[in-house]
Amino acid sequence: MFNDLLLKALNKEIVPRPPIWLMRQAGRYLPEYQKIRSQVTFLELCNNPELAVEVSLQPYERFKTDAVIVFSDILLPAQKMGLELEFTDEGPQINNLISDPADIKKLQIPMANEETYPTLTVINMLKKEIGEKVPIIGFSGAPWTLFCYMTEGYSSNNFNRAKKFLYTNPKASHQLLSKITNTLFLYLTMQVNSGAHVLQIFDTWAGVLSQEDYKTFALPYLRQLISDLMPLKVPIILYTNNSHHLLSKLSMLKIAALSLDWRCNLQEVRDNFGTSLGLQGNLDPGILLTNQTVVREKTKAMIQSLKNWQTGYICNLGHGVLPQTPVENVHAMLDTVFEIANESLVYAK
Ligand code: CP3
Repeated sequence: MFNDLLLKALNKEIVPRPPIWLMRQAGRYLPEYQKIRSQVTFLELCNNPELAVEVSLQPYERFKTDAVIVFSDILLPAQKMGLELEFTDEGPQINNLISDPADIKKLQIPMANEETYPTLTVINMLKKEIGEKVPIIGFSGAPWTLFCYMTEGYSSNNFNRAKKFLYTNPKASHQLLSKITNTLFLYLTMQVNSGAHVLQIFDTWAGVLSQEDYKTFALPYLRQLISDLMPLKVPIILYTNNSHHLLSKLSMLKIAALSLDWRCNLQEVRDNFGTSLGLQGNLDPGILLTNQTVVREKTKAMIQSLKNWQTGYICNLGHGVLPQTPVENVHAMLDTVFEIANESLVYAK
């Protein structure tokens, strides 16, 4: 039987318990991931369909999550556009980052097919393997977040090098953002054609820009990407971090749900923007480092903080699972949610 809880929640239908999946549900906190990862590099893993399918399914097999997110990384399209991407112990590293407007002309808008993107093969295989049991989530970064990595070269807290490029070269920045947007549109379209039921767009670095600059540089491309994907009729979840100041603009996008970090109060966001905007999130991943009692309490408190969690709400973290997370704490979070169906009287308000 198909587990349609996630699709129902995104469609604002009443559900007996919220669906749950976790950002970075596949990854280093899982011993079965570590085992595979000890034999291949991260990029090899992303580009090897058999292994990537196996790793995508690990959290589903262990926890019975309500969705499977395809195993890949938001930076792969940047590599396909022409950047030299590496993953070191410190995270991603781009060796020929964009530091001059002339660099942008060299970038391609790659064709989206299985040869360019093994991730499409992974989605196809996942569809055959579990597509009739549970929804498959495809994803990409948002144009702005990819711009950050392409011009900064590494992860950063403030993306100052990216900002320097942006403010020094606004015209070239628009050109780069436009190229990224076209690349992502082709890639996400093909993810849906390959079998993704839902798309999540990660704008992790939305919060580093002011309201005005987000409106000028980031929002138009995000809006274009989302509206160009509309004809595919697939629900889109948008993740942003540290973006209180942007919520009124983000809430106007044609998305099925907004995935929020732990700094936001879910009910406050709902009061401000209404029930037609689905919400996802937003437990602090730091809570999963504690113990099962704390995890259970905080998970219940998060769900109860919403007056009506029965419609338009998806349980998740406010950011990805941290590598140091004890597996039993992830079990505790999921079990707390699974038990709600039996306890709904306790939770109903
Ligand atoms: O399970 C899933 O969620 C699917 C896989 C997934 C990964 N990255 C795997 C990964 C997804 C959806 C992402 C998204 C991603 N990647 C984002 C957006 C979400 C977020 O976390 O903000 C970003 C900014 C990246 C870029 C990235 N990839 C960074 C900054 C790093 C290094 C930090 C880290 O956690 O190691 C990565 C590496 C990465 N991506 C790993 C995994 C499992 C760890 C790689 C390893 O095995 O060594």
